[in-house]
Amino acid sequence: MPVTQPLRSPQELYLQWEHEHWASQDIDLTADREHWLALGDTERTLMTFVLSALIAAEERISTQFCGLVYAQDDEEEGSYLSTQLVDEVRHMQFYARFQNVVVADPDTIAAHVERAREHLAEPFRVIFDEALVGAHERLIADPRSREAKVDFVTIYHMALEGTLGMTTSHFLLGFLERAGLLPGFADGYGRIAADEQRHVAYGTEFLRRAIAEDPGMEAVVRTRLHQLLPAMAGTLQPPGDGALDLLGIEEGALAEYALSALHRRLSLIGASL
Ligand SMILES: [Fe+2]
Ligand SMILES: [Fe+2]
Repeated sequence: MPVTQPLRSPQELYLQWEHEHWASQDIDLTADREHWLALGDTERTLMTFVLSALIAAEERISTQFCGLVYAQDDEEEGSYLSTQLVDEVRHMQFYARFQNVVVADPDTIAAHVERAREHLAEPFRVIFDEALVGAHERLIADPRSREAKVDFVTIYHMALEGTLGMTTSHFLLGFLERAGLLPGFADGYGRIAADEQRHVAYGTEFLRRAIAEDPGMEAVVRTRLHQLLPAMAGTLQPPGDGALDLLGIEEGALAEYALSALHRRLSLIGASL
């Protein structure tokens, strides 16, 4: 048996959250507007795509979550999950504020999301509008179903946050730092990435416990990931010819990084693809 490393419990993650507050309205975006206006075509195409994906994803992620809070097993897990709901709303608010202050005229969150969706392709819809919404509806209908909860956490914490989110933030924060671009956005996005580490830690601990208690749950995780992998690969295709050069990577590097992150996390929960 491999040595299992200890994972933080929901209670530990809740306590950590109490000390890690930040406010989306306090991030200084004054330099970003000038940076935005001076972006070259390739940089603008890449950033428009990424900002669109981030605000549209965070709208889904914050509105398709209450069912998991309702499906809490105890007060400690419910405490942690309530903090995650607030975090996701803060992320959506930060991306909307960035649109208001830097990219476009001030508007409602719904209007920003609608505009963002024009830049997103079919794989985004498959993941966020079909898989995530469907799993959330099943969990709301039957909050005591272990299978529904494991399936939801697999989509949300493993696929979306642990694989797509972590891969995007790894490469995008590296690019912004090397290029010295959009410092306010990089600051907020870095804080969001730190929040996401906590969220992924919850999902990893929950799935490990669920599989340890009922080994049949591993098949639920595996089946869902197999179904989502093609669409996940599809959302990791940056647009335009120069995007990979800007990110300093070769064709296929995003998918390779994402897959190795997923394998690492699956080995922690006691599952494989
Ligand atoms: Fe988020
Ligand atoms: Fe998150």
